[in-house]
Amino acid sequence: MSPSDLRAEILRLTGEYARQAHRNNWPASEAASDRAFVPGETTIPYAARCFTDAEVVAAVESTLDFWLTLGPQGEQFEKELADFLHVKKSILVNSGSSANLLAITALTSHKLGERRLNPGDEVITVAAGFPTTVAPILQNGLVPVFMDNDPLTLNGRVDQLEEAFLPGKTKAVMMAHTLGNPFDLSVVMEFCRKHGLWLIEDNCDAIGCSYDGRLTGSFGDLSTQSFYPPHHLTMGEGGAVNVVKDMLLKVLVESFRDWGRDCWCASGKDDTCHKRFGWKLGELPEGYDHKYIYSHLGYNLKPLDTQAAIGRQQLKKLPHFIQARIDNWNVLRNGLADLGDFFDFHLPTHATGWTENGFTWDDSGHRSVCSWFGFMMLVKPGAPFTKSEFARHLDQHKIGNRMMFGGNLVRQPAFVQLKKDRPSSFRVIGTLAGADRIMNESIFIGTYPGLTPAMLEYMIETIRQFCRR
Ligand SMILES: Cc1ncc(COP(=O)(O)O)c(C=O)c1O
Repeated sequence: MSPSDLRAEILRLTGEYARQAHRNNWPASEAASDRAFVPGETTIPYAARCFTDAEVVAAVESTLDFWLTLGPQGEQFEKELADFLHVKKSILVNSGSSANLLAITALTSHKLGERRLNPGDEVITVAAGFPTTVAPILQNGLVPVFMDNDPLTLNGRVDQLEEAFLPGKTKAVMMAHTLGNPFDLSVVMEFCRKHGLWLIEDNCDAIGCSYDGRLTGSFGDLSTQSFYPPHHLTMGEGGAVNVVKDMLLKVLVESFRDWGRDCWCASGKDDTCHKRFGWKLGELPEGYDHKYIYSHLGYNLKPLDTQAAIGRQQLKKLPHFIQARIDNWNVLRNGLADLGDFFDFHLPTHATGWTENGFTWDDSGHRSVCSWFGFMMLVKPGAPFTKSEFARHLDQHKIGNRMMFGGNLVRQPAFVQLKKDRPSSFRVIGTLAGADRIMNESIFIGTYPGLTPAMLEYMIETIRQFCRR
């Protein structure tokens, strides 16, 4: 057989294998009826990767190409992702945490002049959430200022923004659209505009959300994605930094991603600037190879081309995945509608409540559409069970559940230690009562596209029985 015939045969067999071997990982809409599920015996994870033969074939095909490092698949994926989000540029990295690290680090570049973030500058963020939304602020010698969370939307309490602001010190806002719920972008954008602040949207859990009809991740200066398996789309490990408008930020993010280099040639390319040997920078000799000139103290945070090949297939499925998450959330919300004595349920920003006809809204005129990462419930203080008892019950019945990540991060050992070591390393606004409530009472279960109707029904029945004991 010729190499091209061999390749075609390998890919044909790979597809055949994946269709047989990975049926349980298909989106429920494509294989719900033959999904192996025994209520009470089969574990229902809170999230899982959903894929078909297309991802497996793409991964093998890219492996056969053996480009290995980020290359043609990465270039295409970056373009397709940027097109999806309506941003100028998406830059692939090896995780959402790396994306957050790069986004904030890029803003420390001397190339931004007066607007650069300097050590000791403050960045407003939110107390309850995922640790690597905040850690990169500290890793850059900056000072996070923690606002409280609204326990029902899980998002930052934007009414505290002005109190958190310190003239001459505050330089940026960096916070997440929590569990697929856009934060109040109208207020945050106006606040950043008024004070000339950078905005980084951590969109890791929220791709596909929209606010007033525009996708989250396309409002701030930079935004970030995670493609770790529980997320809306996956490439195994992976993430992206999105550059919304300003292409100088693209150069900076790429520089910090790629060892800190000054050169912006794509992998395998030389002399994009047409003066590879014509630069005189730092104290280097004139004509020093631009490929080895470093204008920043950088990292290497690139993913592999094979990961990008998987991501490209997942992106094609993304609109369906987003809809499936919304549909699954609605099924759970309907099925648990009369358990309001036991739980407070997650609300989109600007929503005031929920009826069987959908959400009711405040009179701000703003609307958000959630691309739910999970189905969040707060166990009410007066409920006849604790959150831990509820979580244990779900575990015993094989229903995957999670806390809202790190809860109130300020209470985590890393931050308690930090406060002891360097009391001025972060600031806190108010009592963080909302973040504490989230830490003590919140729990979420899955909405991911692999959930079948039978699984959803079992989840609802199990919770109902527990409450009615
Ligand atoms: C809001 C948020 N930001 C960042 C991350 C980090 O992403 P990764 O796990 O890809 O590093 C996560 C992880 O789930 C997250 O939930």
